[in-house]
This record gives sequence, structure tokens and C-alpha cells, in this order.
Amino acid sequence: MHEIIDLRSDTVTRPSKAMREAMLDAAVGDVVYNEDPTVLKLEATVARLLGKEAALYVPTGTMANTLAIRLCSEAGDEIIIEKDAHPLHYEAGGSGTFSGVLFKPVAGKAGVMDPAAVEAAIYEPVYYRARQRAILVENTHNRGGGTVVPLETLKAISAVARRHNMRTHMDGARLWNAAAASGHSMAEFAAPFNTVSVCFSKGMGAPVGSALVGSAEDIERAWHYRHMLGGSWRQAGILAAGALFAMDNNFHRLTEDHGNAKKLAQGLQERCGLSVLNDVETNMLYFETERANELVSALSQNGILMSVVRPGVVRCVTHLDVDSDDIEKTLTTIQAMQ
Ligand SMILES: Cc1ncc(COP(=O)(O)O)c(C=O)c1O
Repeated sequence: MHEIIDLRSDTVTRPSKAMREAMLDAAVGDVVYNEDPTVLKLEATVARLLGKEAALYVPTGTMANTLAIRLCSEAGDEIIIEKDAHPLHYEAGGSGTFSGVLFKPVAGKAGVMDPAAVEAAIYEPVYYRARQRAILVENTHNRGGGTVVPLETLKAISAVARRHNMRTHMDGARLWNAAAASGHSMAEFAAPFNTVSVCFSKGMGAPVGSALVGSAEDIERAWHYRHMLGGSWRQAGILAAGALFAMDNNFHRLTEDHGNAKKLAQGLQERCGLSVLNDVETNMLYFETERANELVSALSQNGILMSVVRPGVVRCVTHLDVDSDDIEKTLTTIQAMQ
């Protein structure tokens, strides 16, 4: 059991000793000269895993999405995106300023867009309308409740994009969880997309970093834009070593987090009488309570941290620093407060 049970997000505050040792031992070089051996190894490894030609290591998932959007748009262009997707809500309008894009939101079901609804959002190109350039999908879908977007849906959305000469990007910050939950490989999920972003700093447990993967040509262009954003982060190998360690050691254990999230959801409903809003497919759940602020603040006094994401709604995310005893303690503490 952990002293602090941090269910606010899947960012791990203290990497394991073994991961820290791997990071300290990392061989480093200058990313500006493309000479950091550990970054190069990470980029080659993640590109291979996702079945793409190349990858670029970047500090954050936000930067990876920003670069992907820049690759497919000029100022005034439009990107079709699920209405609750991360770039629309939590990236500080960055793609509005860096790429000058407009987002066209399409409502999905728990974050999963119907390919027919995506197609219905596309119009005939005409000079007085914005040029529609790309479709962006988030998988797993954060605000949707950690939902896995089914592979068939991804293929159908990508077919819509191809029919209309548009590009595709998948925000796969938690694609690892989608792969672990569904049994599909990362490469199967990535195949229908031009570019995919993945984060090492969420359930994978590395302290820093994300990657953008795609064709060699796209990644070379993204490299230029990364530099513009100040992302030529010199001896980043020390951080990339954490990401490599995460891929070797933490990917296979994500199903434990999914089991813990399911156990928490079941206990909240059956033992605490709370209503869980999503079907738990991966490591995330949202529950409803009128006393959300009160409950979260009382739990924090007991070392249990959760986030109130909107009035009356609390989010919990499981990760490698939350074990089954922590889930039990969380449930008994909430039960005692009812
Ligand atoms: C779906 C999704 N995409 C992108 C990001 C951005 O990642 P970062 O916080 O590394 O910028 C997040 C962060 O929570 C996310 O949930």
C-alpha cells in the first residue's frame, strides 16, 4: 500500500529505482546535431513498434499533437475532431496560434465518433469555406472515460479521410492502454493513420516525454517545427532512457491498472452507492456525486487524491503507483464517509 494514493491522473510522481538507474546510466549526445544515442534508440524503437518509418521524441503529448496538426494544415484550414478531444480542451488553443487552424467538433459516443457522422461533417471544397485538411481521433479517449476506439471504427474513419483527400492523426497518448485492453498491437492501431502521438509519461510511468511517429518525410518536417517550439532539447537521452525502460518493463503490466480501475468502479457502485458514469475499459473512471468537492477534500485529508473535473463529477485514474490494497483502502475510506 502507498502512503499517498494519487488517483488524479496517471502521471507517476516518483519513477522506480530501476528506472532512475537506467536514466542515470544513459549515454547522451546533442539532439540538435541528432547525435543523442539514447534518443535515437528510443525513436527507432517506437517507430518499429508502431510500424512507421520514423519517430520524433518530444517533451509532451501537447507538443506531439501540435506538430501533427502543423504537418497537415495552413492558417485558416479546418481539422475535424471529436468534441471532447484533448487538443480542443486542454492544449491552450496552441494549434489555433501555431497553425492557425479551426477545429470542427463532431460529437462521439464516449469519445468514439461514428464514421458516418465524420463524413457528414465534410463539405464539397468551395472557395468561400475553410479547407478541410485532416481528421483527428483520440485513443483511448480521456474525457470519454478511457474508451478504446475500436479498430474497425478507426479503419472506417481513415477510409472517409482518404475518400476526401484528407490526412489523419491519432492522439494516442494512452494508445498503450488501448492495445493492452483490446489485444490489438500498437502497429495495428497506428496503421490507418498518417501520424500517431504516444506519451511515455502517463500509464507507462516515465517521468517525461512523448513521441510523434509517421513517414520519414513527415517526421523530418516535424523536426523543423519542433525546433521552432524550442524542442531541440540537447542531451534528452537521460529522459529517453526512462521511456525505453517503460516500454521494456511497464507496457505488459497495464492490464493490472485496468483491473484496479474495474475493481474501484464496482466498489464505488456496490459498496458506496455512487454512480459511475462510464463503462470502465482501461484505467479511468468518472463518478457522480453532489458532494464532489467536499468528498475530494475529505479524501485528501486521508492521503487519497482525486480530481473534480466538472461540478458533481470526480475522475479517478489508476497507474503503477496504485495497487489493489490502495483500491481497497480508497473504498473503505469512502464507505466510512457515506
Ligand atoms: C489524450 C491526451 N492527449 C494529449 C495529452 C497531452 O500530454 P502532455 O500532458 O504530455 O502534454 C494528454 C494529457 O493528459 C491526454 O490525456
